[in-house]
Amino acid sequence: MVIGKKDAAQITNFAQKKLLMTENHFTSTLLRWYENHGRDLPWRHTTDPYPIWLSEVILQQTRIAQGTAYWEHFMEQFPTVESLAAASEDEVLRLWQGLGYYSRARNLHAAAKQIVALGGFPKSYEEIRRLKGVGDYTAAAIAAFAYRLPHAAIDGNAYRVLARHFGIETPINTTAAKKEFAALAQQLLPNDRAADFNQAMMDFGATLCTPTSPRCSECPLADSCDALHTHRTQVLPVKQKTVKMATRHFTFIYIRCQGETAIMRRPAGDIWQGLWQPLLIEVAGIEALAALEPLLKQAGNNASLTLLQQGVKHVLTHRIIMADFYLFETPVKPSLPDGYMWIPEQELDRYALPRLVERLVEAAKAHLRR
Ligand code: ADE
Repeated sequence: MVIGKKDAAQITNFAQKKLLMTENHFTSTLLRWYENHGRDLPWRHTTDPYPIWLSEVILQQTRIAQGTAYWEHFMEQFPTVESLAAASEDEVLRLWQGLGYYSRARNLHAAAKQIVALGGFPKSYEEIRRLKGVGDYTAAAIAAFAYRLPHAAIDGNAYRVLARHFGIETPINTTAAKKEFAALAQQLLPNDRAADFNQAMMDFGATLCTPTSPRCSECPLADSCDALHTHRTQVLPVKQKTVKMATRHFTFIYIRCQGETAIMRRPAGDIWQGLWQPLLIEVAGIEALAALEPLLKQAGNNASLTLLQQGVKHVLTHRIIMADFYLFETPVKPSLPDGYMWIPEQELDRYALPRLVERLVEAAKAHLRR
């Protein structure tokens, strides 16, 4: 059968109508479920953005039970954003103790100061999003809960519920998914009930459409759930495996002696094969200095060892390298470990160097120019 333009338009129309029906069904069923099964949580009794923001920041770190206790302590100690802004960082960190990831507490404190400087809590999504530590999700949650603005707040629960119900296979930890799920959630969101919709998604995901044992037999959306019909509740949502990058610690020593420097060619079977490097000890800190001791002893009292840079981060495809750079200046030539050779310092630019080693050479030159 040849499909003409008119037929194609009708098919598209039909598909769109079907999608629209599914969307309406999804949203209305979800909201009805929420009216009967939504959780009663203390920050849901207010539209004051400060306690709402506080709850969202705390709940990024912990589950509801523990999070509620922390939220209550914070609200007792700092009942207003002004009191939080006026606190010392130590006080805030002490109250945060046990939640971990202390940069979140520091951001919270910094944002409180931002808010006070602004003369009050910002009232639009865009302005809220500009606060320190506030990402897309938190900004949408505050905008919807405090100001009833039509923004879909997409957390892990929402990704799971949407991926399953609509059978979406795009790995949720990709930028493509971020766009796709944001567009879908925004389309599903009823503009006049943004807060209810977002809270419903959270509660539905947290209590019914749970990660490993979803309670499909009790689910009001079972009829229209793609994952359930295709036996994919254990497959969806898809998460792309991220390669956990191993970190290697390198201590590089740029040696200068009588107008010469020492380098070696890197062997096969490792990163930077065939490129050249100055003295390398593949450990960091005190251990590296201990390994250097024989060299320092040979060089005698007139030699100097200068730490140029510490903790230089260099990201390769499957590795992160954390490097320390040293400059070792000595009037007496020490014997070099196997594989190293002396070359005139001016000839160094004839050798191919990894970018990280170039950074060491630049740091050494900058130091010597001072
Ligand atoms: N997790 C993060 N924010 C939440 C909220 N407002 N209600 C329930 N769970 C949450």
